[in-house]
Amino acid sequence: MCGIVGYIGEEQATPVLINALKKLEYRGYDSAGIAVLGDEDLIIRKAKGALKFLEQKIATEIIQGTMGIGHTRWATHGEPSDVNSHPHTNVSGKIAIVHNGIIENHARLKSMLEEGGVTFKSQTDTEVVAHLIDFFYEGDLFQAVLEALKKIEGSYALAVISQDDPSRIIAVRKDSPLVIGKGEGENIIASDVPALLEYTREVYYLEDREIAVLYRDHVEFFDTEGKPVEKDTIRVEWDVASAEKGGYEHFMLKEIHEQPKALTDTLRARIKTYASKTIHLEEIGFDSSWAEAGRVIITACGTAWHAGIVGKYAFEHFARIPVDVDIASEYRYRDPLFNPKDIFIIISQSGETADTLAAMRMARKGGARIIAITNVVGSTLAREADLVMYTWAGPEIAVASTKAFTTQLMCVYLIALQFGSLRGVVNEEDLSRYIDALEAIPQQAERLLADKEAIQRFAAHQFNKTKAFFMGRLFDYAISLESALKLKEISYTHSEAFAAGELKHGPIALVDESTLVVAICTQEALFDKMDSNIKEVKARGATVLVITYEDVSYFDASADGIFRIPHTIDAFSPILSVIPSQLYAYYCSVQRGLDPDKPRNLAKSVTVE
Ligand code: AGP
Repeated sequence: MCGIVGYIGEEQATPVLINALKKLEYRGYDSAGIAVLGDEDLIIRKAKGALKFLEQKIATEIIQGTMGIGHTRWATHGEPSDVNSHPHTNVSGKIAIVHNGIIENHARLKSMLEEGGVTFKSQTDTEVVAHLIDFFYEGDLFQAVLEALKKIEGSYALAVISQDDPSRIIAVRKDSPLVIGKGEGENIIASDVPALLEYTREVYYLEDREIAVLYRDHVEFFDTEGKPVEKDTIRVEWDVASAEKGGYEHFMLKEIHEQPKALTDTLRARIKTYASKTIHLEEIGFDSSWAEAGRVIITACGTAWHAGIVGKYAFEHFARIPVDVDIASEYRYRDPLFNPKDIFIIISQSGETADTLAAMRMARKGGARIIAITNVVGSTLAREADLVMYTWAGPEIAVASTKAFTTQLMCVYLIALQFGSLRGVVNEEDLSRYIDALEAIPQQAERLLADKEAIQRFAAHQFNKTKAFFMGRLFDYAISLESALKLKEISYTHSEAFAAGELKHGPIALVDESTLVVAICTQEALFDKMDSNIKEVKARGATVLVITYEDVSYFDASADGIFRIPHTIDAFSPILSVIPSQLYAYYCSVQRGLDPDKPRNLAKSVTVE
């Protein structure tokens, strides 16, 4: 949700800001803007739409200045427009700010400022912060920011510059991410690490309610009382190339193709072979006390929630432990029952999703222990959980999650099997067999991807279908949910998922000749049930694509198309069976002339409610 950047150094700021914003565009692309402090003036340029429109606008201009801030917007308050684009300024235009988050009490603050004679230019919540800083400004920008922070409520990552204070950028965060890159004679802030990688690998992670003051040659940190805070840098080992498209047309296609490697990285170091193969989660601090839990509660949002549903089935199957899975945005506002013996598994690619963090903090308050599964090192989730299991998928840039999802599944399986083993449900021999199956998956995914043209051809014929339903049972139901989400978010096709057994209880009324039904069929014990469901929708005119194992001929007679995946243990099939759906969604999006990396109305990291 919005990306913010800031640069102070010896170089011209504009190219650095634009370059850094390009790496954050996945966070929002409703508009973009920069404010650069030149020798005398604050130069502000903004444009509605993707960053390229801002680039076009400034292409023939020379914007001189070695410090500045920038923003790429995902609109919350006020429609996408030039005027609502950040940076926003105070009335004199001397103070400029960029903001990621929501100022919840903006209406009250706005009335107060208007009564004092301030005229607002935009409909945004952010603009109040610029005027509020101005309101408190008595010659010291830092003090004015401290005073303003006492008044604002909500979530924010803010960067502030002033024409009257040309030696520093002030940045602060609460419930929205912000990282600071320490360079040589230059310092940079950004909402996310990929924006910094070209300039530095030494990164400070700002904690909630910490303030950073960036000078050209150093950075100072304070709490919101203005007391100094000591911080150390962390070295980021991410590969720059992994945050680039690397020859692929879109990040999403690249990330789909990165799954075999990502899955290998997730497994590596967590499997050890002595007399037989075993899972090692000591690196995350997991010991037998965790397996004594009375119940597991999994909370997450979107795709990560789907990983949680697979987790429920996996934990119940492999560890025989009761599991609840909840959408974090529901969980946080319910009156849920849990006790300190329960263990929470919180899943989030970004580790910054506002609802997911709120659910985690609720669990923490209730005394429960928390395992985080996340992809982003140093994210808020990673820092606040008791144990962190990183997915090691590398940066995921496309809004539609692919490799983060399959690596989340891999983590969930490893934890479930470890629980099962420690609880005596899975014996040594079975554990070794399961590990063999997991270790085979990266190579199986590679083989599956080699056949991607089959899905491309199918998409070329079906992309215009206005309705697509995904159905499956057990693990295949979870993947139906994920498949429908992928298709709707990047191709804007109305797609839904159904537990196949539910079809007759309502959804079948929607099926007609215009419907594509994708039946995911990997749960061998239920093949006959699925075949009946396929026949039922076919009888109502639907076109049916079946996703099943390569050695299964059960559905040959009933399906209009079959996509075959390598055979694995049924419980592990989700990692493989989701890949055709990812490809199908991607190719439908491209066929429709859309940009799969930047779907309308969406942003990669949902850091506001
Ligand atoms: C995935 O394709 C979605 N864009 C979205 O549902 C995402 O999974 C969700 O917002 C949760 O994000 P997180 O994993 O970063 O918490």
